[in-house]
Amino acid sequence: MRKNIVWHGHNISKKVRGDGKEQYPCIIWFTGLSGSGKSTIANALESKLSEIGKHTYLLDGDNIRHGLNKDLGFSDNDRMENIRRIGEVSKLFIDAGLIVISAFISPFRLDRKQARMLVEEREFIEVFIDTPLEICEQRDPKGLYKKARKGEVPTFTGISSPYEIPETPEIHIQTDKLSIEESVNVILKYLHQKGYFHASTH
Ligand code: ADX
Repeated sequence: MRKNIVWHGHNISKKVRGDGKEQYPCIIWFTGLSGSGKSTIANALESKLSEIGKHTYLLDGDNIRHGLNKDLGFSDNDRMENIRRIGEVSKLFIDAGLIVISAFISPFRLDRKQARMLVEEREFIEVFIDTPLEICEQRDPKGLYKKARKGEVPTFTGISSPYEIPETPEIHIQTDKLSIEESVNVILKYLHQKGYFHASTH
């Protein structure tokens, strides 16, 4: 398939693109159960980053599944393909110099690892949005847990399909202990301390 296709090097490098934006391009990879707060925290984080002049792009499960991945369902294979494509898209956006935020359940450890392997070590920041299943189920913002308990949603994560918790995420957020603002601050502090923002950023 890849025969006769040669990678084309571009004149403007990832470093040049990132430097122009005063940031170190990376992917902030949220993982967690449905209803755990991934999208909410990801959105709040993107707003904060924008306020301090950073250039970002947010990839969100429910949105990507309306377009690029609308041919995919929730079998193990489809989830794997979902995450594979998100990994590749994130890699392109990193190359464009952006700080990418992704919010997908991404329940399988191997799929997350493969997404990690696509980019450089420092470019992948895994954020475990750790919310107990009982709380996600109580919140049930889309009514899907209720349906899943009645057997109306096949292979629903946490109910009839597994969620493999990250063993060594770069950042671990326990949403029953932190507010949204506090959660965002934990991530911002990490980015500051690890040098993802250039010196002029406050
Ligand atoms: S992933 O498992 O492939 O990473 P993704 O994050 O893209 O999932 O999509 C999850 C969203 O799809 C959930 O927040 C929920 O709204 C919806 N959804 C519909 N069916 C399912 C299902 N069987 N399991 C999990 N989420 C589902």
